[in-house]
Amino acid sequence: MKKKELKICYLAFESIEELINEDQTLVAKAIEATKTAYAPYSEFYVGSAIRLANGEIIIGSNQENSAYPSGLCAERVALFQAGTNFPGVAIEALVITARVKGRILDTIANPCGSCRQVMNESVLRQEKPFKIILLRENGSGYIYDSIDDLLPFSFKFD
Ligand code: THU
Repeated sequence: MKKKELKICYLAFESIEELINEDQTLVAKAIEATKTAYAPYSEFYVGSAIRLANGEIIIGSNQENSAYPSGLCAERVALFQAGTNFPGVAIEALVITARVKGRILDTIANPCGSCRQVMNESVLRQEKPFKIILLRENGSGYIYDSIDDLLPFSFKFD
C-alpha cells in the first residue's frame, strides 16, 4: 500500500481590483443577482453569473421552495439557463457569491456537491475548462482555473 497526495491549486485575491476587467464586471453581476434570490427559508441569498464565449452574461440566484428539495441553487439556475438558451456556446467564467440577512458573511461561497457535479458536466460538454470565482462579501475570494480543483475524482462515464 502506498500513501498518495492530491494537490489542489487556486489563487487567492484580496480585492476585486486584482481581477481582470471582464471578471470584475461578472462579479458585479453576481452580487446584483443575490438581490433576485428567493430564500425565505434559509435567508441565505446566493448570486451567480456566467460569462459565455459570445460575451453573453447569464445570472442565477437560489430559488427556494417550502418543499425544500424542490428549490435550486443559484449556480445551477445559471448553468441550466446557459445550457437551454445557448447550447454549444462555451462558458468562460462563473462567479458565485452570497450574503445573509442582517450580518456580513465572511465565509467563501463554496458551491455544494451537486453544483460541482453540474459544473463538471458543463466542462465535459464543452470539452474545455472554465474559471470559477468564489467571492466573499468583503470582495476577497478565490479563483479556480478548473472544476478539477473543486471536484477531484469526479464521476464520469468512461
Ligand atoms: N445554495 C446555493 O445557491 N448554492 C450552493 O452551492 C449552496 C447552497 C443555496 C441553496 C439554499 O437556497 C441556500 O443556499 C441555503 O442552503
